[in-house]
Amino acid sequence: MWREHARKLGERVAADGVLTDPMWRAALEGVPRHVFVPHFFEQRRDGSWAKKGVGDAGWLETVYSDRPLVTALARTESGNSVTVSSSTKPGLMVRMLEALELRDGHRVLEIGTGTGYNAGLLAHRLGDACVFSVDIGAGLVDAARERLADLGYAPTLAATDGTAGLPDAAPFDRIIATCSVPAVPWTWARQVRDGGLVLVDVKRGSHAGNLVRLRRIGDRLEGRFSPRWAGFMAMRATDTAPSSEQARKIDLDNGLRSTTTLDAEPWTNALPWFLAQSQLPRRVVFGYRGRNGAQWATFTGDDGSWCAIALDSDERGAREVRYGGPVRIWEQFERVHTMWDTLGRPGWDRFGLTVTPDGFHQMWLDEPDGPFRWSLPPLP
Ligand SMILES: C[S@@+](CC[C@H](N)C(=O)[O-])C[C@H]1O[C@@H](n2cnc3c(N)ncnc32)[C@H](O)[C@@H]1O
Repeated sequence: MWREHARKLGERVAADGVLTDPMWRAALEGVPRHVFVPHFFEQRRDGSWAKKGVGDAGWLETVYSDRPLVTALARTESGNSVTVSSSTKPGLMVRMLEALELRDGHRVLEIGTGTGYNAGLLAHRLGDACVFSVDIGAGLVDAARERLADLGYAPTLAATDGTAGLPDAAPFDRIIATCSVPAVPWTWARQVRDGGLVLVDVKRGSHAGNLVRLRRIGDRLEGRFSPRWAGFMAMRATDTAPSSEQARKIDLDNGLRSTTTLDAEPWTNALPWFLAQSQLPRRVVFGYRGRNGAQWATFTGDDGSWCAIALDSDERGAREVRYGGPVRIWEQFERVHTMWDTLGRPGWDRFGLTVTPDGFHQMWLDEPDGPFRWSLPPLP
C-alpha cells in the first residue's frame, strides 16, 4: 500500500517542478518514508504537542504528504518542548538533491542524519559505499541505522558534531547540510575536493538567510543562493535541547522614538533582512510583545541594541518605532530595504556568497567582485 502513496508523492513533487531527474523519482518512489517516520508531532494551538504514530488515523497519509514532519522533541531547562529533529519536506529534499548534480561514484557527506530518510534516498541513488551521514543526536543515529538496515541499506553513519565534518572519510564530492549554520565551517571546505559542492542554509538569526550552493574553487567556497527560499533548524552544539533564543529585556517606555512608513517586515523579507545583517549585531533575536493593547515586533541584539515596531499603523500609514543601544536595527533594515528596492528588488538567485579560510563571509550581487558587496560580521 505504501508504494501507491510513494508514487503519488513522486507525482505531486514532480508536478511542482522540483523533481526532474528520473533517478531521484525512482528514489522517492522506492524508499518508504513511513519506515523513517514511525511517529511525528503536531503542535496544538496552545503550544503543546500531539504525537501521531503507526496505526493512528491519518498517520500514513500525512507521512506521504509533501510536508516537513517534526520527529523529535527535547525539553529545555525552562521545561518547554522544542523541536530537535524533523523529516524535511520531501519536495525540498529532492530540490536539494537535484541541486547537488550527483553522478555515479560521487561521495556525499550529509550533516544532519535525522530520521535517516535522506540518507536512504542517497543510498538508493549512489549505493552505500558513497554515502556518509552524521548527526549530533546519538539516539537519532542509532534509530536511523536500524531503519536503513531493515531496508537493506548500510551507509556510514556517525554520531558526532557535524561542524567537524567526517575527516576520516574525506574527501567528499558533495556536502549537504540539513541544519542551518551561522557561518560555513572551513573544515567542510577542507573535506570537499576542488570543484566539489557544499549545499547549506546559511542563517543569522530568525529568517535571515537561505540555502546557498558553494563550489570549492582552490582556497575559497563560492556560489549563489537558491532562487527559492528555504529554511532549516539551526545546528546545535550538543545532543540536548538548544538553549532557547531568549529575547533580551527591553525598556519600551524609555526607548528613543521614531516612525516608519516602510510597509515591509524582516520576517517576510528575508533577503534584505539578510543583507542588513552586515551592519547588525552578530545575533538578533525576534519576538512579539503586547502592551496596553498595542502589539510590537521586537528585535534584540547580543550587544544591547534593540528595536520594537508597532504592528498596526496609524491613519497615515505610519508605524511607531522605539529603539535603544549602539545599533539602530530598524534604521539599518529600512536603509537596506530601500537600496534593494532601488536596485529593482533582485531575487535570491542574483546574490552569491564567497567564504575564505579566515572565515570571512562576503555576499555579493551578480558577481563576486561587483560593486555591491556585504560582509557578514565574524562570529566569536
Ligand atoms: C531537519 S533535521 C534532518 C533531517 C534529515 N536529513 C532527514 O532526512 O530526516 C536536522 C538534523 O540536524 C541535526 N543536527 C543539529 N545540530 C547538529 C550538529 N551540530 N551536527 C550534526 N547534526 C546536527 C539535528 O539533530 C537534526 O536531526
